[in-house]
Amino acid sequence: MSAAPVIEARGLGRVLPGPMPVTLVRGIDLAIAPGEFIAITGPSGSGKSSLLYLLGLLDRPSEGSVLLDGRDAAGLPENDRARLRLTRLGFVFQFHFLLPEFTVLGNVLIPMRKLAALSDADMHRRAEELLERLGLGDQARKRPDQLSGGQRQRVAIARALANAPRVILADEPTGNLDTHNARTVFDIFAGLARDTGTAVVTVTHDEHLAAQAGRRIHLVDGRIDREDRA
Ligand SMILES: Nc1ncnc2c1ncn2[C@@H]1O[C@H](COP(=O)(O)OP(=O)(O)O)[C@@H](O)[C@H]1O
Ligand SMILES: [Mg+2]
Repeated sequence: MSAAPVIEARGLGRVLPGPMPVTLVRGIDLAIAPGEFIAITGPSGSGKSSLLYLLGLLDRPSEGSVLLDGRDAAGLPENDRARLRLTRLGFVFQFHFLLPEFTVLGNVLIPMRKLAALSDADMHRRAEELLERLGLGDQARKRPDQLSGGQRQRVAIARALANAPRVILADEPTGNLDTHNARTVFDIFAGLARDTGTAVVTVTHDEHLAAQAGRRIHLVDGRIDREDRA
């Protein structure tokens, strides 16, 4: 791998403490370069979501580290981690989590408003561009419940891209979609990685979809069992 990694896990592990400790993941070493499209696969309960949450600074490791652009991020105070999530990372989940009382455009504006780095006019311009790019240019004024499931998930992707993240982290983003819409989501991810250099890390249990990624990481019992590249 030539380019410096955007995210790197070193000896990453997470154990839920208690009288009967539960190991979620362990011994994860993984470097993700800009523009990589990675699928995380593995059986249910193998730690896919846990790994994604650790990489996304949504959970804290019990051991090892997560480096974002070469800087240890996992151990930072929560404020700094929240800032990094807002500026460097974009999340897509199985459920879209769009706010029903906001328009499509309003939902995409939320992360930009939170960051407050652009003027209102520039935020609107960017939100409209993103929706256009995702084939939703004519849906901007609608509310989420007026859209199809596939369209809603594309709005969620537009929202994840709002602050131009370095990495998109997606947990079973096609879990509620039919085959056609699932393919569309993966095509979008592939295009993003290829054309914008955004790294995309997506969990999926669908082997056909995983085959579209440039690199596949297979988890078993919380560790990397094998990995292969296209
Ligand atoms: N809060 C929790 N309490 C107890 N066990 C958990 C908790 N979260 C996850 N686990 C367990 O940790 C393992 C990994 O979970 P997860 O990362 O959600 O797997 P996956 O996403 O691959 O299905 C599973 O065995 C799961 O049951
Ligand atoms: Mg999961």
